[in-house]
Amino acid sequence: MYTQSFNVPDSPGAKTVALAPSSEDPALQAAFDARIDADGRIEPQDWMPEAYRKTLVRQISQHAHSEIVGMLPEGNWISRAPSLKRKAILIAKVQDEGGHGLYLYSAAETLGTSRDQMLEGLHSGRAKYSSIFNYPTLTWADVGVIGWLVDGAAIMNQVPLCRCSYGPYARAMVRVCKEESFHQRQGYEALLVMMTGTAEQKAMVQDAVNRWWWKCLAMFGPPDADSPNSAQGMRWGIKRVSNDELRQKFVDATVPQAKVLGVTLPDPDLKWNEERGHHDYGQIDWNEFWETVNGNGPCNKERLATRVKAHNEGQWVRDAALAHAAKKQARSIKEAA
Ligand SMILES: [Fe+2]
Ligand SMILES: [Fe+2]
Repeated sequence: MYTQSFNVPDSPGAKTVALAPSSEDPALQAAFDARIDADGRIEPQDWMPEAYRKTLVRQISQHAHSEIVGMLPEGNWISRAPSLKRKAILIAKVQDEGGHGLYLYSAAETLGTSRDQMLEGLHSGRAKYSSIFNYPTLTWADVGVIGWLVDGAAIMNQVPLCRCSYGPYARAMVRVCKEESFHQRQGYEALLVMMTGTAEQKAMVQDAVNRWWWKCLAMFGPPDADSPNSAQGMRWGIKRVSNDELRQKFVDATVPQAKVLGVTLPDPDLKWNEERGHHDYGQIDWNEFWETVNGNGPCNKERLATRVKAHNEGQWVRDAALAHAAKKQARSIKEAA
C-alpha cells in the first residue's frame, strides 16, 4: 500500500517497477501517521518519511554491527573453555550472535542501504556499535557474566523491539529474543556452578560482576532527560519503552538473581525503595561511557582491527561464492536455451 509505480525508460519494454516514493506528500504522510497511530506495521514497500527511514537504517545497522563485534570478546574464549560442554555452548552462542547480525543486516537492506555500505561504515570507524564490547574479557567468569548481564540487558532492550513499527525489524527480533534468552540462562548457569566451587572461583565471579555491572547499566543509553531523539523514536513506534524505564526494569530483575547467585552488586546506593516500588541505584559514570562510544575505550582499536582482518581474510570465500553463483546461472541459462 502507499506505493507508486514508476516507468523505467531505459529498460527494454519500459518495465514498470513498484518503488516507494520519497517525495513529501501530505496525503502519504497522513496515511503513514494513521498507520502508526493504529499501531500498524510499516513494510519496505510502504511510503515512509525520510527521517524515519534514516533513523531505522542507523539503528538497525548499529544493532547488526553490535551483534557481529559482540562475537569477539567471547570468541576468544572458545579455545580456552573449561570443558567440552562449555565449549559447545559457547560456540553455539557466538554463532547465534553472527546469525543475529545477518538477520539485522538483511532487515536494514530492505530500507535501501547495502551490506557493503554498512560494512564500510563499520570498518572505517564511522558507524557505532554497542560500547559494551570495547571492554576485555579477562577470565572465564567474564563469559558467564556477559551471558547473565550483557545478554540480560540486551533482552530488556530487545523484547519491546518485537513490537517496533517497522515490520522486518520487529519480525527479526522475535527469534533474536528467543536466542538471547538461552544466552542469558547459559551464562547464569555457568556462574551458579562456579559459585559452588573454590574460593578462587567465587572471587573470580565477583570480580567479573564488579567490572561489568556499571557498564551494563550504561547499555540502556543516556538518561531520558538527555536523550532528545527518544521522543521521536517513541512517536514513530520504533522505541516503546524509555532508557530509564528499561534500566530500572533491569536493576529490579537482576537484584534477586544476584542474591541467589551469592554475589554483591558493586553499588553502595543500591537499595529497595518501598515508596517507588523499585530499587534505587547510584550514579552511572557517563564520562566513561562517552569516552568509549567515541573510540577511546580499552579495546575499541583492537576490536575494529580484528573485524577488518576477518573481513579481509574472508574475501576469497565471497569471491568463490559469487563465482559459483555466476557459473550456476550461466549453466541454467544454457540449459534453458
Ligand atoms: Fe544477539
Ligand atoms: Fe546474545
